Amino acid sequence: MKILITGASSGIGKELSKLYATPENNLVLLARREDRLYKLKLELCEAKSVEIVVADVSEFDALQEKIRDIGAVDMVILNAGISLGHSLEMTPFKDFKKLYDVNLLSNHAILEILLPHFKSQGSGKIVFISSLASLFSMPSSKAYSSSKRALNAYAEGIRYKCKPYGIKVVNILPGFIKSELTDKNSFHMPFLLSTEDGAEIIKRAIDKNKKFYPFPKRFYFFILLFRLFPDFIKQKIIKSAL
Ligand SMILES: NC(=O)c1ccc[n+]([C@@H]2O[C@H](COP(=O)([O-])OP(=O)(O)OC[C@H]3O[C@@H](n4cnc5c(N)ncnc54)[C@H](OP(=O)(O)O)[C@@H]3O)[C@@H](O)[C@H]2O)c1
Repeated sequence: MKILITGASSGIGKELSKLYATPENNLVLLARREDRLYKLKLELCEAKSVEIVVADVSEFDALQEKIRDIGAVDMVILNAGISLGHSLEMTPFKDFKKLYDVNLLSNHAILEILLPHFKSQGSGKIVFISSLASLFSMPSSKAYSSSKRALNAYAEGIRYKCKPYGIKVVNILPGFIKSELTDKNSFHMPFLLSTEDGAEIIKRAIDKNKKFYPFPKRFYFFILLFRLFPDFIKQKIIKSAL
């Protein structure tokens, strides 16, 4: 199987790359930090092959050129993502836009190139890495939460579009997983998972073709319950968490 993984240079993407590095798989690892990707490639000697693609997913024209060069794949894991940390200050527009470019629009830029291949193959799998943060928005993380909520809507639409062609669409909504992204957080992160455990859970959900997979379940159910609370209670909980 030929698998493209974006954001493979660290965190969840790096760990997933290790899990998919088996003799059946040709891996294509994409990120900006070339040194990290080459170091990782050396570790993945179990894989059938490992190709490195150095690209910034927010540079859309150059990105699409590189995706075109990769050609057809059997699965794409759209994992590259950023957070702006947590701040109650108004997010500068430039940063907000960059976050949307990386977390949302880059996925469409990639799929515009890959979808025709999937259609002509009559098979394929598209994996989105959304977030439990898409299900509730703190005043300190509006940009991140809204980008991931938009990603859920996009994933849902693409799933209906892809179904007649035999293309599977998986949307994963992780809670907190240890990574460079969460290392920036100074608050308590409930149900924090190690990168290894998080990636194992994600891989299992991918292998089972889960359409919508929020985890850890206890955190997910807490969020569902929280959403039912009246606004004044939500406000109190949010205030105490900030
Ligand atoms: N960790 C969590 O708790 C958590 C929870 C829910 C969802 N997620 C999602 O999981 C995904 C992976 O995050 P992570 O936690 O593993 O964070 P991470 O360790 O910071 O990894 C982010 C990856 O994205 C890549 N990336 C960022 N900007 C890029 C750009 N402009 N072009 C190309 N690649 C770019 C980074 O590579 P380069 O810097 O080398 O380009 C890196 O490989 C993200 O979509 C994140 O939103 C994470």
